[in-house]
Amino acid sequence: MNEILRTIHDRRSVRAFRPDSVEKEKVDAILDAGRWAPSGKNTQPWRFVVVESASQRTELAKLVPQKNMVGSAPVTLAILLDRQAGYDELKDAQGIGACAQNILLAVHALGLGACWIGRARDREIETLLGARENEELMMLIPIGYPAETPSVRERRPLSELVRRI
Ligand SMILES: Cc1cc2nc3c(=O)[nH]c(=O)nc-3n(C[C@H](O)[C@H](O)[C@H](O)COP(=O)(O)O)c2cc1C
Repeated sequence: MNEILRTIHDRRSVRAFRPDSVEKEKVDAILDAGRWAPSGKNTQPWRFVVVESASQRTELAKLVPQKNMVGSAPVTLAILLDRQAGYDELKDAQGIGACAQNILLAVHALGLGACWIGRARDREIETLLGARENEELMMLIPIGYPAETPSVRERRPLSELVRRI
């Protein structure tokens, strides 16, 4: 199978991480994959905050239900939407989704694991992240070397999903 298609198929949400730190080059490559996502009118409305210091990771973990996941991840990326850069609520959100999926695929391709946490528009977390006035939290993505091999969450067959006209 083609390498990209294999990566899409094999990626799983990883929710437990080894304590090993993630190399800066890998974090940069992951952010770069996010940067290259498509966006409406190429507005690129995503902004990233890399939470990697022990103190901030601990504080962030206190603010989410997924305390173990965020607490154990050596890095958590926060994706913010810059409302000034964007132009349309729905299309901005679509672009952010594309950005997040690029990030998850890059994570997997680099031998790391991650999980999309749909924690959005949380004032306390935005304050911790130092979000600017025009920036809104869209999601958190804890990243690290996997400490688990997640089982496959099955998908509906195409026959249930597709209509041809
Ligand atoms: C919009 C969105 C929000 C999600 N939020 C959470 C979350 O808050 N906590 C969590 O453990 N997983 C979350 N996930 C991960 C999904 O549970 C996971 O992708 C799904 O069960 C399929 O499993 P897989 O990613 O291993 O294939 C989220 C995924 C998406 C796309």
